[in-house]
Amino acid sequence: MIILGIETSCDETSSSIVKDGKKVLSNAIATSADMHAETGGIIPEEAARQQVVSVIPVIKESLKKAGVEKKDIDKIAVTAGPGLIGSLLVGVETAKTLSYVWEKQIIPVNHLAAHIYANWLETSPPSFPSLALVVSGGHTDLVFMKGHGELEWVGGTRDDAAGEAFDKTARLLGLPYPGGPSISKCAEKYLKRAKKLDLFPRPMVDEENYDWSFSGLKTAVQKDIKENGKRDKERLSAEVQEAIVDVLVTKTLKATKELKPKSLLLAGGVAANARLREKFKEGIKEQKLKVDFRVPPPNLCTDNATYVAAYAFYNQKEVPWEKVTANPNLEITGEA
Ligand code: KG4
Ligand code: ZN
Repeated sequence: MIILGIETSCDETSSSIVKDGKKVLSNAIATSADMHAETGGIIPEEAARQQVVSVIPVIKESLKKAGVEKKDIDKIAVTAGPGLIGSLLVGVETAKTLSYVWEKQIIPVNHLAAHIYANWLETSPPSFPSLALVVSGGHTDLVFMKGHGELEWVGGTRDDAAGEAFDKTARLLGLPYPGGPSISKCAEKYLKRAKKLDLFPRPMVDEENYDWSFSGLKTAVQKDIKENGKRDKERLSAEVQEAIVDVLVTKTLKATKELKPKSLLLAGGVAANARLREKFKEGIKEQKLKVDFRVPPPNLCTDNATYVAAYAFYNQKEVPWEKVTANPNLEITGEA
């Protein structure tokens, strides 16, 4: 089965063609991130306007790259939420139009649950039950998956998301948006020579739950800059990254020990972080956890439509196009 996936929830416009929820035939992406780099964060109105400009050229590009035509497409998958309403509407309304005109079934997709399906692409399917950590710009969720469409929420952030913590502290350090890759790059040299990285607190890490809190990091960085009279970018980047990575790994592995999933799946933009990936592997080895740890290649962690199409293959809900609506506040366990 060939699915055309469309993703426009934030500042990426992406269209992908995926066969049987596994083989990526094409992945076309346009982004307005450079525009937002200048302002230090996303301006929703601008992001939505760029979605309008990019959506049709990106869909055309994905068809061309995959060497397929409209007759070859079996179904159309589209992100219905969560995300920025203006951006979401562009993808949703485009997909509905194509569904009507091309007479193809449309599958609305939950963007957060879909991130997890990057772990089904170009590899053997992970075994259930799975524990999945979804770390993106707006969300940090830990979910237990008994099977496709059977997601139970285990924990998450009480305030800022992990990606948001990267983005906001990067801004304080004068590093460009998106903050995750900027901080990770700036931290590299210091990380190599640092003996310990424990400047910032690890809130909630010893509590009996699987929740996180990241909003205190902004204040901690601000305080350090004030006390030292300068922004020591390399050191602070390494410390911020370590504080985020440390609490994510500690609590997720604690949940792994207790819930005993067969597979542990990382997903979302922050899963592209090299230090996070490394610390998970180290922690699993040290604690001798018997779990199949999976993390998608970095380019499939950040927003794109391949996992939207993969999710749709495994969660084929029949919905008439008239009933598909954008939902900016959808939760990870919610129905798109
Ligand atoms: O999943 P995603 O692409 O979009 C959302 O659904 O939000 O995630 C974007 C987030 C941003 O906060 C960005 O700073 C972060 O992922 N991110 C990273 C890295 N690459 C992207 N965070 C840490 N390290 C990275 N290498
Ligand atoms: Zn995302």
